[in-house]
Amino acid sequence: MTALKEDQLIDKTISFVRMRMEGLESGHDWSHVQRVWKMSLKIAGQEGGDRLVISMAALLHDIADHKFHHGDLKAGGDAARRWLNEINLDPGISERIADIVNKVSFKGSGMRDEMDSLEGKIVQDADRLDAMGAIGIARAFSYGGFKKRIMYDPTIPPLVHDTFEAYAGNSNPTINHFYEKLLLLKDRMHTATARRIAEERHAFMEVYLEQFFREWEM
Ligand code: ADP
Ligand code: NI
Repeated sequence: MTALKEDQLIDKTISFVRMRMEGLESGHDWSHVQRVWKMSLKIAGQEGGDRLVISMAALLHDIADHKFHHGDLKAGGDAARRWLNEINLDPGISERIADIVNKVSFKGSGMRDEMDSLEGKIVQDADRLDAMGAIGIARAFSYGGFKKRIMYDPTIPPLVHDTFEAYAGNSNPTINHFYEKLLLLKDRMHTATARRIAEERHAFMEVYLEQFFREWEM
């Protein structure tokens, strides 16, 4: 496949995803996808991987999130496959992309990751980096507000989720989400490049939480 052809496929996919996602709840909108795409290519610059697969998987990774599709974990891969079929991408390549889209999402603090390809690891790292740091904090409170959750309740302790259902079904305060997911992400990065960026974002979240509790308890 020529480079020009790849760029055209990516441009078409950008228009499709942007139209579908612009203006969604701000944790899952087009700007998140754009950041994940850019970050995936930045990581790939250091780690390698097939750039078409990485770009397509990053652009399509939240196209039909299970949280907004009645918990259907295959909705994302199916939607990605349908789109890639429409633009006539080689079915073998489409399958690799759909597989990444199905596996990318965080399933709970006690649940293992099942990503096996380098391309999938890179996109998952990029997606998780966007849940950390200043933007990650903003996204967590935005999502919590969208779900009408309170910010914090000192009497409700964080949980370790042994099943995906327990993770997806809980309605804990947003501060708990830091302990149930966001602070665990640093140690779940696949690539060395992402791990370095995660260290900095992790440290920032720790400083943020210290300040939050200081203000709460004063
Ligand atoms: P992933 O893309 O890793 O699957 P999610 O789709 O679960 O991540 O989450 C998307 C964004 O919404 C992230 O920034 C995440 O931290 C946030 N989020 C998900 N669940 C919660 C929750 N229970 N409370 C606050 N924020 C949440
Ligand atoms: Ni995402």
